[in-house]
Amino acid sequence: MTFSYKSQNSSFFSVDSHDLSKSANADIRWQLSQSKLLLRITSAALCFAFVVVCLGAFTRLVHAGLGCPDWPGCYGHLTWPDSHHEIAAAEQAFPESPVDTSKTWPEMVHRYAASILGLLILIIAVVSVRVRLKKVDSSHPFWLPLGLLVLVICQALFGMYTVTLKLWPQVVTLHLLGGFATVSLLWLLALRLRTLVYIGRQKTAAKPIENTITSTSKSLQPRSLGFIKSLSWCAVAVVSFQIALGGWTASNYAGFACHDFPTCQNQIIPNMNFSEGFNLTQSIGPNYLGGLLEGPARTAIHVTHRIGAAVTLFIVLALAITLLRNTSLKKSSYFLMTVLTIQLVLGISNVLLAIPLTIALLHNLFGAILLLTVIYVSYQLISINKQTLISKSINN
Ligand code: HEM
Repeated sequence: MTFSYKSQNSSFFSVDSHDLSKSANADIRWQLSQSKLLLRITSAALCFAFVVVCLGAFTRLVHAGLGCPDWPGCYGHLTWPDSHHEIAAAEQAFPESPVDTSKTWPEMVHRYAASILGLLILIIAVVSVRVRLKKVDSSHPFWLPLGLLVLVICQALFGMYTVTLKLWPQVVTLHLLGGFATVSLLWLLALRLRTLVYIGRQKTAAKPIENTITSTSKSLQPRSLGFIKSLSWCAVAVVSFQIALGGWTASNYAGFACHDFPTCQNQIIPNMNFSEGFNLTQSIGPNYLGGLLEGPARTAIHVTHRIGAAVTLFIVLALAITLLRNTSLKKSSYFLMTVLTIQLVLGISNVLLAIPLTIALLHNLFGAILLLTVIYVSYQLISINKQTLISKSINN
């Protein structure tokens, strides 16, 4: 009896702990597969978000923002009115908005691309909630995917208000900022998932695998870490603010206020009206296509964007030099300087060449790349503190 009892008992405990470790291992493997899946979908969504931001800029730059007077359809169509018969019927239904086929398609292609992006973000949120409900790892991204879902819903609403409020600059700028925020959050999510996949691989590998995540702390002086982190967050804030100023410049059609550089209207200090140019409570006009502000107000906006560029140059360059001197993030530093230079050259070319479509599109794209680069640097600097936690988590 005793033997049998002992035997049963020990076998009971040994089987149980064995099963437990087996099931914990299975959980870790399951989460790793989900993280990998999420990383793939997030990377696809990130590429798609870039396309959507560029399509949005294209729509704005070819003045097609009001190409469809209604929302979500276009003159009541799922695509856009194409045949003579459809165009005649559309113009009868919307007598104040004659159909211009060169402006209907960019608007609708942008809307459909944004819808596909919304769908990808919905899938990301659903998979993330599923992983969280399994309660394997509480650090798995949960709020970030949900935040992205809320953001993309707000973006759809801003897209609607862009049309219904006739390109009111406040809404157009918020819509542009929302697009940049979507790209940034997807980028942040991809970076976090990459770290999780790395940790998961380490946990499940028979022997430790080579570290693919760049170590930032190799040559970093601890006392300068706090300063570099503050500088990197300052760079994120300054670049975001400069992007907002760029959106305000474009949505008020203030890019054409100065045709020369570094002077504006051949003067160092031209006639400017800042209170008019930055009056955020300006009324909703009948139609903002082409802008409604007076010359001095537009000049004030344009010049402020230039001052913002000078501040951006100062902060981002300071960050790049500090990274180069104190950290092993040398590649990021060179990349940062290259992107900043390209962006400044594109901005100046915009002025001197009277905003050609390709240059304006590239200026928009490089604004996004610059933002993602400073976010990447900040993320790498934060992960220095977390590296200890990561190695602890792998060893456990
Ligand atoms: C790092 C610095 C800069 C950033 C991050 C930045 C960002 C932006 C962004 C996001 C836009 C909106 C584009 C759009 O609506 O599609 C814009 C517009 C514009 N930027 Fe910049 N910019 C920078 C520097 C400059 C410089 C140095 C100049 C010229 C001296 C400049 C001139 C312009 C002009 C003229 C527009 C209006 C384009 C339009 O009407 O479509 N930018 N900028």
